[in-house]
Amino acid sequence: MGRIPRQALFLGTALLLAACGKHGGDAAQAPAVLSPPAPSVAPAAARPEQLLGARAQLGRRLFFDPALSGSGRQSCATCHDPAHAYAPANALPVQLGGADLKTPGTRAVPTLMYKKYTRAYSDTYQNPDQVSPPAPGGGFGWDGRADSLAAQAEIPLLAPNEMANAGRAGVAAKLRKAVYAEQFRAVFGAASLDDDAKAVAQAGIALQAFQIEDTSFRPFSSRFDRYRNNKQGGALTTPELRGFALYMSPDKGNCNACHLLGPGDGGSQDISSDYSFAAIGVPRNPQIPANANPDYFDLGLCGPLRADHAPARAGAASPYCGLFKTPVLRNAATRQVFMHNGRFTSLREAVRFYATRDTDPAQWYPKDANGKPRKFDDLPPVYRANLDRQAPLDGRAAGGTPALSDGDIDDLVAFIGTLTDEAYLPLAQAASQLPEPVSKPP
Ligand code: HEC
Ligand code: HEC
Repeated sequence: MGRIPRQALFLGTALLLAACGKHGGDAAQAPAVLSPPAPSVAPAAARPEQLLGARAQLGRRLFFDPALSGSGRQSCATCHDPAHAYAPANALPVQLGGADLKTPGTRAVPTLMYKKYTRAYSDTYQNPDQVSPPAPGGGFGWDGRADSLAAQAEIPLLAPNEMANAGRAGVAAKLRKAVYAEQFRAVFGAASLDDDAKAVAQAGIALQAFQIEDTSFRPFSSRFDRYRNNKQGGALTTPELRGFALYMSPDKGNCNACHLLGPGDGGSQDISSDYSFAAIGVPRNPQIPANANPDYFDLGLCGPLRADHAPARAGAASPYCGLFKTPVLRNAATRQVFMHNGRFTSLREAVRFYATRDTDPAQWYPKDANGKPRKFDDLPPVYRANLDRQAPLDGRAAGGTPALSDGDIDDLVAFIGTLTDEAYLPLAQAASQLPEPVSKPP
């Protein structure tokens, strides 16, 4: 069922693009967004973004507007740069924000691509594989705490370490002064900027419309998409095909158990996440300033940024602690930092972690006084029962045989590279040429 409408959509988009005098095809869509609109341009009627509805056109202007921040110098696009698959342009594990642009965040910035298909968080999320029993899943952010893209937008606008506005009143005051204030009123009504909370909520709706309607957020132009759809240019190499098999194999990579490929919700295809939450024991990242406090732990679903799944009392066991949302692996080959805490700095290092976390923990975790690796140093012992036990993180003994050989890791990295959208191939190519970091715990 889902296939026919999607193909129709592709065709419709191609025709519209051709009608605009563009070259057509997926790659042609990227430049339209790569250059943010100058704040002074006339309403978008005569511009390429006319394909977007009125709310999305407004959302596009909000997305690129640094004046919406306390510093006056940070927009959504600063951290979610369209030229970097809507992730940061730099390799910092966490970004700097605040009025002075010096206040560090506590989590790595995820891509905004392919988020259209994410539903609200639920403790009993129906897994898109239609087989797994309902479990925590969905929502926006590493902890799923925002229920929609619209609700999510309020978080960075208000966070003191991000866009750092003085509450909703601060955001609304900036919207009233914005060059697009009239456009805002035309879209949401003459009184839409009068009430602070309403103005911010509507800004969120506009930002959501932009992220949903603008196809640069979901071009489906990777070589793997072509392979799946039997399109020209969709051949996979032998190493890539081996990597694909490892990805799917339950006792080897087993990546597909969480980074689900195949048909998904709402006509989505091969999104590479089932939106489930898992604790995989990523080592603590001492480069995050918040981690200088030995009592600070980012426990994802159970807090501290999310408040509704906290343990009953401090130190009590809770099934939600240490769990983070499974990220989308599309365009992961372009990323510069990986995992919720940006602990890894190359794709190969991230994949190698899966292979050797248990068989060679000294490679990943700092040593204790007796010289033994302090395994799971970012997850207090009371929560370690929450660690996922699936292959390849199935708790095999130190010194044992890893589930994946070095060659397997290369093949998996090659396969994940086929999930790179066309516009980002040069970026992925550049990332793959950086030397792989030597993983020595600090
Ligand atoms: C200072 C950097 C920064 C800025 C500016 C910023 N973000 Fe983010 N964004 C983040 C971080 C960090 C996360 C992960 C947050 C978390 O898990 O708690 C995130 C997460 C998101 C997500 C959830 C993605 C997912 O995988 O679930 C969306 C959507 C998003 N941001 C949209 C926006 C919008 C819209 C704006 C502008 C209003 C914006 N961001 C501004 C850093 C930033
Ligand atoms: C049990 C579910 C599960 C399995 C199996 C799994 N992953 Fe993950 N993956 C996750 C979760 C959850 C995260 C985020 C963890 C965190 O940040 O603490 C993640 C993060 C990643 C990231 C970082 C992406 C980013 O944007 O930062 C990569 C790369 C990755 N996984 C690749 C793989 C590969 C390759 C396999 C197979 C060898 C695999 N994963 C198997 C759940 C899983």
